[in-house]
Amino acid sequence: MLVVKKGEGVKVRVRVNGVWYEKYVSPRTLLVDFIRDELGLTGTKVGCDTTTCGACTVIMNGKSVKSCTVLAAQADGAEITTIEGLSSDSKLHPIQEAFKENFALQCGFCTAGMIMQTHFFLKEHPNPTEEEVRDGIHGNICRCTGYQNIVKAVLDASKRLRS
Ligand code: FES
Ligand code: FES
Repeated sequence: MLVVKKGEGVKVRVRVNGVWYEKYVSPRTLLVDFIRDELGLTGTKVGCDTTTCGACTVIMNGKSVKSCTVLAAQADGAEITTIEGLSSDSKLHPIQEAFKENFALQCGFCTAGMIMQTHFFLKEHPNPTEEEVRDGIHGNICRCTGYQNIVKAVLDASKRLRS
């Protein structure tokens, strides 16, 4: 692993889950690696590393992004939310509750990205149809569930968030 001493790399200052971090990293460091390796927030997963699976989805400046497609340096100054930032006071977020109650996961590898995409999608579509849900999560791949329970969970989450 390339070690970058202070002053030699690119300074990246980001606010993640409400906490400011400042690190020096290689200019080629991907945001997902920055989040996992530099900040220790390993809830965000790397599935493909090629913009395909969505396992690495986080919210950056209010938009969902696949963090394997963004350089850490491009995120300088950004506000980022990861899966670790959703729950509060040890209570699951309503979207997490909905995934749990609807058995919307098996191996769990896609789940953090799926939930972060759902978080973004439901902000834009608070009362979605099933078709809109399927469209809204189409960039996130799950190899286990067949999607049925994930779609049910997203629809359930939309109700929980509206009530
Ligand atoms: S790891 Fe980023 S899209 Fe698959
Ligand atoms: S639960 Fe295994 S990939 Fe989605």
